[in-house]
Formats: sequence, structure tokens, C-alpha cells
Amino acid sequence: MRILIHNIQELTGIDYQSKLLRKGHEMDELETITNAYLLIKDGLIVDFGSADSANFAALTKNLSNTIGIDANKGLVLPSFCDSHTHLVYAASRELEYIDKIKGLSYEEIAKRGGGILNSAAKMASATEDELFESAFIRLEEIKNYGTGAVEIKSGYGLTTETELKMLRVIRRLKEVSPLTIKATFLGAHAVPTEYTGRQDEYVDLIINEMIPMVASEELADYIDVFCDKGFFTPDDTDRILNAGMKYGLRAKIHANELAKSGGIQTGVKYNALSVDHLEYTGNEEIEALLNSETMPVILPGAAFFLGMPYAPARQMIGAGLPVAMASDFNPGSSPSGNMQLILSMASILYKLTPEEGINATTINGAYAMGVSEELGSIAKGKIANVFITKPIPGIAYLPYYYGSNKIEKVILNGLIQN
Ligand code: NIG
Ligand code: FE
Repeated sequence: MRILIHNIQELTGIDYQSKLLRKGHEMDELETITNAYLLIKDGLIVDFGSADSANFAALTKNLSNTIGIDANKGLVLPSFCDSHTHLVYAASRELEYIDKIKGLSYEEIAKRGGGILNSAAKMASATEDELFESAFIRLEEIKNYGTGAVEIKSGYGLTTETELKMLRVIRRLKEVSPLTIKATFLGAHAVPTEYTGRQDEYVDLIINEMIPMVASEELADYIDVFCDKGFFTPDDTDRILNAGMKYGLRAKIHANELAKSGGIQTGVKYNALSVDHLEYTGNEEIEALLNSETMPVILPGAAFFLGMPYAPARQMIGAGLPVAMASDFNPGSSPSGNMQLILSMASILYKLTPEEGINATTINGAYAMGVSEELGSIAKGKIANVFITKPIPGIAYLPYYYGSNKIEKVILNGLIQN
């Protein structure tokens, strides 16, 4: 079965060179064909081009076994790849949000037993079915906003049993959702109250018990540590990442959200796939990232929601780095998985051009979750994860007209979703 999308005003996010990421000035380049068509077969992108071409004329002569979709002058883009979320959670945290409005800092809220520990308490009593059902609804929501691949972390368990429960929920989501999902083990998200003053012992538990069990059930693709002031130190992170490496778990770490914590350098030292947040990034951190294979991932939703300083995205791109942007969808610091909103924040708050924002949320996001060989751009042989927009004037309208859903139709794995 083939799908032929025609009457496309602009087909954009094309990759002719099998680039796994875009960095520096390449981030401002977005290959586009106007008045285009896109052909999908057996779940893959097999052809695309101009509707004026001989190829298209030949295609329209033989439409047997082909579903035609009229894009109605909409744009077609590769689906967003959201490389950082915590979307399996048991309860929302809007009460703590009031504390934030009243001026309490993230750290103060965490010290009052709020924050991550609050989510962990709720997680402990939730059943696997409840968690699965609520997370599945969130996946459907982000799918309709254009996300086709998503990374999901554990980290609201903080006991072996509950961390495994979260990861099993993510495994079930992988089995049934049309989204491509990667799972990350984040036992080192916070120190549970019963380990206060005994942080080393909690790190021992992660290393000696959690990681081996996560690995034996093959529940995680990656391993994460919240390496930041007031949470886990670079030494803790060293120990945890070393243990993870023995089981083949590559790192994706939370770094430099609250201070210049050394998290970025630690991530680079372990060849992390990504380091995420990065509000506190200066020349030394940028230097460490240059010539590394680690993707810097900025999480605009968290910085916006918490009123944090914004990571120096322009400086990073100016230095020649790639930048990815992700939603950080979670109940505490970023209760939204809407990547169209992230695209708007990319330009409004971080001064990225629409082209840079689209690359940050598609191909670079794909790299940051290890799927850029098969997703993140329009290229022959890639998985057909694309969306068709409403008939909007052009790509700049996507970040500009913020807050509403500009997407008309979603196709994942070559299957029409709506
Ligand atoms: O990415 N920074 C650490 N972890 C999450 C916050 C999770 C929470 O507050 O529940 C984040 O923002
Ligand atoms: Fe996070």
C-alpha cells in the first residue's frame, strides 16, 4: 500500500546528505521543495519532489494500490522528536505551582518535600494500569501536536520496585503506541527522604541493585542522572555512569539547570548522547561540548515555567555547536508536551530562526534520542513520520501563531492517524 501526498505548498526538512545532526550555521538551513509531493510505501518515505516533475506525472498515471491525500496547500514537515520527557506520572502538581507564583524557588519547594519527592510519593501508590492509561492519553495528545518520537524517563520511583514499575509502563507504551519511544532510567533524579544525609548509600543502591535489575529486564535504552547543585554531584554521576556503561547504557544527563555544576563536562567525559537543560552554560562548557559527540539539549518549557535564566542558545550555535530543543513534559517544571509551543519559545525566548527551531526539534532531537538514522528529516528510506499543516502562509507562521494547533493530519510509520 502506498500513500501519495500531493498539493503540498512546501515540503520542508528535507535531507539529501544523510546528516545525523545539524550544527552551527547548518542549523539555519532547511531544504524545501515548493508545490511538492511525497510518496510513502510500507511505512517508509520512498520518493518526493516537485509536482511539476516527470516523476510526479508518471506516478499519477498508476494510482492502483495508492491512497491519495490532498494536502490542500498545507506544509509537510518531519514529525517532532521530543528527546526529553517525564510523561509517566501519577498526579499533577498545580498546588506547588501556586508556591512558585508566590516566589519560592525550585530548590525551596524541593526542600519542603515538594517537587520530585512529591511525585515519587504519588507514584508509589499508583498501579501500573493507572500509570499506563494516563500516560497513553498524554501520548495521544502530543501525537496530535505533531510529535512522532519521544523519550520517556523513570525517576519518580526512587525505590527499586517503583523505578522498575515506571520502566515497565514505558515498555507497555512502546508496545502499543504508534510513536517511537526510548526509555531512560533516572534512578538518580532526587535523594529519597529516608536517605537524607546518606546520599552515598542511595547511589550504592542505584549501582548495586537498580542498574543490574533494569539491565536484566532490558527496560532502559539510556541512563540519566540529575547532576546539579543540591542533587547529585559529578562524583556521584561518575560512579553511576560507570556502572551504567558496564551494561551498555549510554548517558543522557540533566546538567547545569541550577548552577555551573560540572554536569556538562561530566556528560562529555562519558560520551553522553545528550546533556540537557544547560541554563548555566559559559565558555568552558561550550569548549567542552565542541569536538564531542554530545548533543546540547535546551528545555525551553522548564526555563519558561520556572522563570529561570535562558540557556545561551545563540552563543552555542555561534560557536558551531548543534542545539536540540525538547519539551521536558513533566508535572513539576514543564506541564506541557506541545512541541509547537517549544518552537515558538525557540524563537521568542532564544532568538532562533524558524529554520533553526525546526532543526532543533526534528533532526537534532532525533540525534539526542538516538534515532536520527531513521527519523527527524524527510529522506528516502526514513520512517514516514510526518505531519501536514493547515493551509498556513509558510514555516515562519508555525512559531509566530503560537498557542494553537496548526496541524491538520498526522502520519506515523506510514499510517494515517486522524
Ligand atoms: O527536567 N530537573 C530535574 N527534573 C525535572 C523536573 C521534574 C519535576 O520537578 O518533577 C526536569 O525539569
Ligand atoms: Fe527533565
